[in-house]
Amino acid sequence: MSFTIAVSGKGGTGKTTLAGMIIRFLLDKGKGPILAVDADSNSNLNEVLGVQIRSTIGETRETMKKDVPVGMTKDIWFEYKVQEALTEARGFDLIAMGRPEGPGCYCAANTLARKCLDLLTGNYQYIVIDNEAGMEHFSRLTTRDVDLLFILSDSSQRGILTASRIRDLIHALDLRIVREVLVVNRVQGEPGSEFYEEVKKQNLELGGVLPVDEEVYRYDSEGKPTFQLPLESKAVQSARRIFEKYIQ
Ligand SMILES: Nc1ncnc2c1ncn2[C@@H]1O[C@H](COP(=O)(O)OP(=O)(O)O)[C@@H](O)[C@H]1O
Ligand SMILES: [Mg+2]
Repeated sequence: MSFTIAVSGKGGTGKTTLAGMIIRFLLDKGKGPILAVDADSNSNLNEVLGVQIRSTIGETRETMKKDVPVGMTKDIWFEYKVQEALTEARGFDLIAMGRPEGPGCYCAANTLARKCLDLLTGNYQYIVIDNEAGMEHFSRLTTRDVDLLFILSDSSQRGILTASRIRDLIHALDLRIVREVLVVNRVQGEPGSEFYEEVKKQNLELGGVLPVDEEVYRYDSEGKPTFQLPLESKAVQSARRIFEKYIQ
């Protein structure tokens, strides 16, 4: 049985950065095999992880439809194409869903993405899914239970409110979430009492707080994968305390 971790939250709250830190944490703990899933149509998890992707599932969709080679079944062709889109990196594999190419609706692309995940997930102990801001695609992406859902937010009252709305939206989807945890990112100093009150009012479980970290920013602006941030980095240290609590 694999353990599925998903990261959600408003755009720019640090989802992809956190997904990278989770993968790094699992690797350092010697846990695996790990499948990293980039479910954001503007794929950039690969940049945070410092790996190149050859193609996305969205890109291969058109060719999958058209040219099933003679003598091959559609299923085998599909498996072949999924393997082709899978990037094998040091200690983990990465699959990017990308955006659907050409005409056709997102539903077909989502069905394909789900088929792809269903095909792959059996091979991995840990699945880490980085999402885009909207979560609508999520229930179509996976029928699996999500063991741990991180909801990211900033520390503003509005941010916490948005996080609770995202939580409600996810609850409305046909998915089983075993545990959901709020992670507040890019915090300056100590959050005030209003912050804790709002978290309580919204009935969110606070997993922890990550400080604003110039090193994260510096890595990013230099085009260096934040996955490679040193353990001493403030944000990495805080993130690891959270992971220690929730990821076995
Ligand atoms: N704790 C942090 N301190 C400083 N910058 C951060 C921190 N967390 C994330 N960032 C930066 O914020 C930006 C958005 O992060 P990202 O992970 O891409 O968000 P999302 O995936 O939610 O859109 C990136 O430039 C990232 O490097
Ligand atoms: Mg992102």
